[in-house]
Amino acid sequence: MCGIVGINGTTEVCFDILGALKRLEYRGYDSAGMATLSKGAFFRKRVPGKLIQLEEKIRACPLPGTVGIGHTRWATHGAPTEKNAHPLEGKHVVLAHNGIIENHEALRAQFSMDPFDSETDSEGIVHLLDAYRERGMPLSEAMSQLFQVLQGSYALAILFRDEPDTLIGARSGSPLVVGYGREGRLFLASDVVAFSDFCDEVTYLEEGDWVELKGAQATIHPDGGSGVVVRPRVPIGETMKVLTKEPYRHFMRKEIQEQPAVLRHLLTTLSDPLKKNTVAWASLSNLCIVACGTSFYAGCVAKYWFEKVARLSVRVEIASEFRYNHPALPLGTGALFVSQSGETADTLAALRFAKQQGIFCIGIVNVPESSLAREADVLWQTHSGVEVGVASTKAFTAQLAVLWHLVEEAAEQRKALSSEEKKTLDRAFQTLPEQVEEALLLDASLQKLAARFGHTTSALYLGRGALHPIAMEGALKLKEISYIHAEGYAAGELKHGPIALVEDALPIVVLSPYDALFPKTLSNIQEVLARRGQVILFTDPEGAEAVHSLSHRLHLYTLPQVSPIFAPIVYTIPMQLFAYHVAASRGTDVDQPRNLAKSVTVE
Ligand code: G6P
Repeated sequence: MCGIVGINGTTEVCFDILGALKRLEYRGYDSAGMATLSKGAFFRKRVPGKLIQLEEKIRACPLPGTVGIGHTRWATHGAPTEKNAHPLEGKHVVLAHNGIIENHEALRAQFSMDPFDSETDSEGIVHLLDAYRERGMPLSEAMSQLFQVLQGSYALAILFRDEPDTLIGARSGSPLVVGYGREGRLFLASDVVAFSDFCDEVTYLEEGDWVELKGAQATIHPDGGSGVVVRPRVPIGETMKVLTKEPYRHFMRKEIQEQPAVLRHLLTTLSDPLKKNTVAWASLSNLCIVACGTSFYAGCVAKYWFEKVARLSVRVEIASEFRYNHPALPLGTGALFVSQSGETADTLAALRFAKQQGIFCIGIVNVPESSLAREADVLWQTHSGVEVGVASTKAFTAQLAVLWHLVEEAAEQRKALSSEEKKTLDRAFQTLPEQVEEALLLDASLQKLAARFGHTTSALYLGRGALHPIAMEGALKLKEISYIHAEGYAAGELKHGPIALVEDALPIVVLSPYDALFPKTLSNIQEVLARRGQVILFTDPEGAEAVHSLSHRLHLYTLPQVSPIFAPIVYTIPMQLFAYHVAASRGTDVDQPRNLAKSVTVE
């Protein structure tokens, strides 16, 4: 989603701003812009579309100045046009905004005599600051006033025309980080990744902070006031620095391939939560798992595990629905929030809602510095490194591994698992990296399959039990990056509607290891074949044996024999590979699919 960058230094900044914006591209955006301040004048360039277009404009005519800001915008209020792209410029200020200003209509009414140049919710901020400066308000008073008036969420990077060599940042509800560069350069960004090549240390601003970056000095003012606070400078983690997709064509492909290594590393860290609180699983009567997108499907797999193995009653809620649904949260309810970014606005709002109700909140995140990580009562990190591809892959399987660890912990505390069962499951869990490696060997054959089905307009995915969420995740992956309509169903639901879609051209992906439910899924497969549908079956050696003579319309892919509990993790791999190869063959923007954002920081 929108990305903000600001640099204040002693040398020209425009190309470094461009470089930093490029590192934020993965968040998803549909217009971009940059502004600098030099000798009391603003210089600005904006484009609809991709950064490459901004780069062309900047190369043709670089922006002068040693202080500047940049922005990648993911349109919410107003189409992705040049006039709606940030930075937005007024008489006294130029600024970039990430978030949503909820009282933007009131601000438009307040300044109804002034022309607005854009349709954005952000432009009211420009008019407010201009008005404050017209009245001669000093910088600090203007910023305090701004905090009092603005409603909604914002991270801001601001240049004031008459504050030379000064870069201002402010945050409320959207993340913002200060970076300390070499030769006294100071950076501002919504994501550390933007400047991790230039800086070794950063400060994560807190809610309500605003910061003045001037003359190699970062002065932080807390609570939207004029006081000063010193916040810790922390080193940037190594994983934030590795941002190359080599030797692959896309980050997503690289991230799929990284999964055995991520799981191996994760297995060594699992007994060590990031926040040392423990969860009293035995005291919980039920658990509510809340998440969005791919993380939601991880929660759906965990529901199955928690109920089967730990005998804990679980419901899984879509974060954007949760707090508006008047959820009954009886005594003994615990809540678990799953998020790769830890910044998804809906998931964060759901966490805050649950905390207000006095619910104990567990977090699983990939980004340890995220808001969700800070606000959860107890926290596990998925240790996947930066995930650049918008479609989540390695973070998802890592979420599943962490969730399994919690299920085991809960089962032990609730005395739902014998020591023999635990030993067997632990052994199987430890072999996951090798099994994922084996699943990755299907790559070449799935590339061929993708070439065959790349022109389909629709696909169905079927699975039972814990593989039902993986069917939905497989369908989501295909939709996200190849723009093919796809739906995931519980296999038994086929006959209640989706079977009407079955025809020669419709691929039906079926996930079915040879377990107790295999015969039932086999009946569903027969139902499809009888209607001349195409089945793409992922199963294990025993399942393959059972179907080998069925039909030439059945495309068979054999995965390793895996403990039924861990099948969701291993069966995810071919879903990712198939979606990837279909998208790559169709030539879509795999890492930054249209309209999507890596981290959705607006409601
Ligand atoms: C966006 C991303 C998805 C992701 C979802 C939830 O829609 O494109 O890949 O699954 O947000 O994000 P989170 O960071 O909370 O896991």
